[in-house]
Amino acid sequence: MIIETERLTKRYGTRRGIDEVTLAVAPGEIHGFLGPNGAGKTTTIRTLLGHLRPTSGTARVFGLDAHADPVAIHRRLGYLPGEFGLYDRLTGAQTADYFARLHGGVDTAYRDALIARLGIDPGRRFRELSKGNKQKIGLLIAFQHRPGLLILDEPTSGLDPLVQQEFQALLREARDEGRTVFLSSHVLSEVEAVCDRVTLIRDGRIVRTGKVAELRDLAHHQVLLRFADTVPVEAFQGLPGVSDVEVVDHTLRMRVSGPMTPVVRAAAGYELLDFESREPGLEETFLRAYETAS
Ligand SMILES: Nc1ncnc2c1ncn2[C@@H]1O[C@H](COP(=O)(O)OP(=O)(O)O)[C@@H](O)[C@H]1O
Ligand SMILES: [Mg+2]
Repeated sequence: MIIETERLTKRYGTRRGIDEVTLAVAPGEIHGFLGPNGAGKTTTIRTLLGHLRPTSGTARVFGLDAHADPVAIHRRLGYLPGEFGLYDRLTGAQTADYFARLHGGVDTAYRDALIARLGIDPGRRFRELSKGNKQKIGLLIAFQHRPGLLILDEPTSGLDPLVQQEFQALLREARDEGRTVFLSSHVLSEVEAVCDRVTLIRDGRIVRTGKVAELRDLAHHQVLLRFADTVPVEAFQGLPGVSDVEVVDHTLRMRVSGPMTPVVRAAAGYELLDFESREPGLEETFLRAYETAS
């Protein structure tokens, strides 16, 4: 395994960070780490990098202990932090050069290709850049030395859709070259688009690990739909996978196992105001499907 944690726990004083996180990332896969804000993604990643000392449990990267061997690990790694500041006065090109030298130089043809594909303006000073353009410099730094492992914390936040597609192509190319990717996200659709396997984290604990398609089909969701008007319970009761339907005023609560499609179709006949679920990313996916169906 390229990344392996065993009951990894990090508390901030008495506050929970992560609790007994056990996960494994295999060589050559794009592994998604999906969970809502505050779930513990950044805490896990920073512990893997040796930035945080675990309260208990172990983290190994390339078979090396994250706490004991951070330098050896960092040499073989490309890392995009969730939030970062770089040297404000340096331009994108100067920043990339600085990090390239730390890695003993990079393949400049590959670096130039990255600059072109991500649409980076290398002459602008970092402090003048928008969030999305700063994020692109972060990606350039993570990718340019062709590391064996990319650890990317919410890499697509702030990227426009075209750059996101280019970024996904870069991930697939890295995977096809046998390199490994571990990326965190709070958006299911993003993870579905590119990951081979996914680990779900919620409230500091691992919920499940599996292939993207398996996760969707095995999942049981408690969902809540709020409509503009009264909706008959019969419209949902008896749909495949739907059980325990409860109605209060214009709000329906139900349990759904398997695909959401029947619920989307049934809801499409009525004006839906709100959809709620604890499943990371499901809200966005459901509302998008509802818009399309109605
Ligand atoms: N420096 C810190 N001090 C105290 N609590 C923290 C700190 N960093 C994170 N936490 C807490 O740890 C939990 C996990 O946070 P984090 O790892 O940042 O989640 P995510 O990256 O999934 O949004 C949250 O409850 C958060 O409030
Ligand atoms: Mg985070």
